Amino acid sequence: MSIADIPPCEDERLRIGIPELDRVLGGGIIRGSLVLIGGDPGIGKSTLMLQAFHALARQDHRVLYVSGEESIAQIRMRSGRLEVTHPSLWVVAETDIDRILHMTKTCAPKVLAIDSIQTVLDPAVPSLPGSVTQVRETALRLMQFAKQTGIAVFLVGHVTKDGAIAGPRLLEHMVDAVLYFEGERNHLFRILRAVKNRFGSTNEIGVFEMKENGLQEVVNPSAVFLAEKPDNAAGSVVTATLEGTRPILIELQALVCHTVYGTPRRTILGLDPGRVALLAAVMEKKLGMHLMGHDIFMNVAGGIEADEPAVDLAVMIAIASSFWDKPFDSRTIALGEVGLAGEIRGVGHLETRLSEAAKLGFTRALVPEALSGIHHPPASIILVPVRTIAQAMEESFNPTH
Ligand code: TYD
Ligand code: MG
Repeated sequence: MSIADIPPCEDERLRIGIPELDRVLGGGIIRGSLVLIGGDPGIGKSTLMLQAFHALARQDHRVLYVSGEESIAQIRMRSGRLEVTHPSLWVVAETDIDRILHMTKTCAPKVLAIDSIQTVLDPAVPSLPGSVTQVRETALRLMQFAKQTGIAVFLVGHVTKDGAIAGPRLLEHMVDAVLYFEGERNHLFRILRAVKNRFGSTNEIGVFEMKENGLQEVVNPSAVFLAEKPDNAAGSVVTATLEGTRPILIELQALVCHTVYGTPRRTILGLDPGRVALLAAVMEKKLGMHLMGHDIFMNVAGGIEADEPAVDLAVMIAIASSFWDKPFDSRTIALGEVGLAGEIRGVGHLETRLSEAAKLGFTRALVPEALSGIHHPPASIILVPVRTIAQAMEESFNPTH
């Protein structure tokens, strides 16, 4: 039909009531949408699903949580721990897709969760649950179900070792949104990241902390990520990275030591290793630092990832600070992209980043000289504009401001 004849429909979203999750979804759940929640086993996908469904149930929405992995008794045990016992939350332990879809007729949920898609089975398909064929067939049927009934469906999917969602990558193409639950198992922080979203931005993240009684939202991630930052330790530099619309302060740590034998090692966690190697080469060339004879280890504290060029300057200062064994002032943050000629380039949303730093008590900021689009810098921060890395190093280790 002509697009002009379609009546306008509102972007009506069902708010879950867990702001960190709602934001990643783009503001809430869209009617009839199919959302994939991926992540390593044990990261907290089932926990998140149950908590989200409980939040919906508390608003008197009937929701159905289907588990193919746990018995009713096991779900009850978990729900006791999470204190999710609202009567509008319906649960069933079932793997047969026909029976699951049949049950939705009697239960008539507003939202359905399948935990996990790898356990669901279409008896008409002659292959094992979790196989490519089964995952594809059952996901397809759930997609049709969602579109026909308007019931939103969450699929939980495990991730294989190589990072692809087990079974087919194909699943990613079928669903409306893919949310990845990330984090180191032995870290408490969990980051929910949208890698695909037909109805929202893919830049948003939600930050949670795994507690005794489930996942708790981290409302101020910067404060948490900086909580254990050592004062005046060489190799530690704070910068502000932007996750979607949200600035997050992170601590970069570098350790630079003599290479004992062979090629220098570059062990980089949480940053792009290629980018760090490039920055090290620029330092070698422009600052005359002999980094080729040194191993470089880098890490972003708290297990978060920072892969935008705006953190370049902070990476360099962290490396230099460890190399010279001189601490970088712990009340200063560094922002700026670095070019191959050693020039400091502008970064987007400088003001947002600076206000976040001001909120957390930072008093000084190294910023690119081209202060594009900055009208109201926070009053409590002294801006130190720098044009080259040589100048940035001066301001970092022999400050004149
Ligand atoms: P789970 O949600 O079962 O992970 P997934 O579904 O992604 O496989 O989370 C399991 C881990 O979370 C497990 O190691 C125990 C831990 N956990 C808590 O620390 N607190 C809790 O309240 C719950 C329910 C789990
Ligand atoms: Mg699970």
